Amino acid sequence: MAASFEMRCIECGKAHDMTRPAYACTDCGNLLEIALNRNAALDRLSKVDWKRRPISVWRYKELIPVGGKAELFSLNEGGTPLLECHNLADELGMKSLRVKFDGMNPTGSFKDRGMTVGITKAKELGMKTVACASTGNTSASLAAYAGLAGLKCVVLIPEGKVALGKLAQAMMHGATVVTVKGNFDQALDIVMKASGKLGMYVLNSVNPFRLEGQKTAAFEISDQMNGASPDYLYIPVGNGGNSAAYWKGFAEYESLGLTKGLPIFRGIQAEGSAPIAHMFESNARELSPVQKPETVATAIRIGNPANWKKTVRAVKESGGSVSTVTDGQILEAQKNLAKKEGIFAEPAGAAALAGLIKDIEAGEIDRTSSVVCVSTGHGLKDPDVAISQSAKPRTIEASLDALQKLLGGD
Ligand code: F0G
Repeated sequence: MAASFEMRCIECGKAHDMTRPAYACTDCGNLLEIALNRNAALDRLSKVDWKRRPISVWRYKELIPVGGKAELFSLNEGGTPLLECHNLADELGMKSLRVKFDGMNPTGSFKDRGMTVGITKAKELGMKTVACASTGNTSASLAAYAGLAGLKCVVLIPEGKVALGKLAQAMMHGATVVTVKGNFDQALDIVMKASGKLGMYVLNSVNPFRLEGQKTAAFEISDQMNGASPDYLYIPVGNGGNSAAYWKGFAEYESLGLTKGLPIFRGIQAEGSAPIAHMFESNARELSPVQKPETVATAIRIGNPANWKKTVRAVKESGGSVSTVTDGQILEAQKNLAKKEGIFAEPAGAAALAGLIKDIEAGEIDRTSSVVCVSTGHGLKDPDVAISQSAKPRTIEASLDALQKLLGGD
């Protein structure tokens, strides 16, 4: 029987050994991806009652290329809610608006989907140390899973630009936290160079196994929609791994006959960190990195996305595009989600909704379409941004009178 999975180059197709750490093609230098053998997957699925398992990353074990007999390192990730947003849908005149709230993962972001797979793979490979560069969430998640698996963890973060909650997590979970006097792109460059030399397994989204965990969010959405796919998927884009993983998930699920139709992808970048959106605007074939990326959504403050080829390919295959929103639009969407739907997302986790609102107002998409916005991280991660845009608490003397006066009673 054919191998169930193959690791190959996204550009030249060269097959690579899956039993060794590898991120880029040894021939042409492009990133690697995992290819799923459809018939082998159908065969594996037919032998287990997988639909009875709870919705979670490991419900789809047969479609994930690790953990056959190996110990799984899991914190019960995935199984996040797909929330029907009636209030916002009414306000926007839309028929159906849902939010996949991946901030409900164990460490508060979608990264956990990838880390449970990536760390399981790291153990399978016999690695002792794992590493990443991060705008915050990857480091928090990697630190937690490395702790669980008893691995050493080194994380590089851009100095002064990581949200407080994320930093607290990485430190608390026991990682060696290194702040770099530079941005995320520079930190990733150092980590990639260090990986071979210092024997560290890199769990940034250049790691194809991590994306295999992240693709399960697409499976979940389809299962939560009773085997359908939305017409549109809005998703924030930083380094470009998650959007590529979602597309892989929808495409695989459709090829296995497990979902109907495929969504059109709308990737959303913050205006000051939008090299992929610029490619779509100008029809460019190559990425021009943004040298000094800036945005209030620090999670997606990335100027040279490592996965740009994968994401551009995914978005184009879906018939979609990547566009921008301003920081103001992101913060407005963040407030709307929190106030009107009870969903507290970090700024990057509200960027998709900001993109949708922009498109609806511009008449770019039909209001009768079914739309899913991906909310990638929890608002508690970034208390500074939340507090800075909210009304300050009012202080009163400790009496009922004082409260009544404040609230305008007599
Ligand atoms: N949303 C959040 C909350 C993120 O943390 C990230 C990426 C993204 C969206 C973008 O995902 O990079 O796959 O396109 N955060 C990374 C980190 C870069 O280091 O935590 P992407």
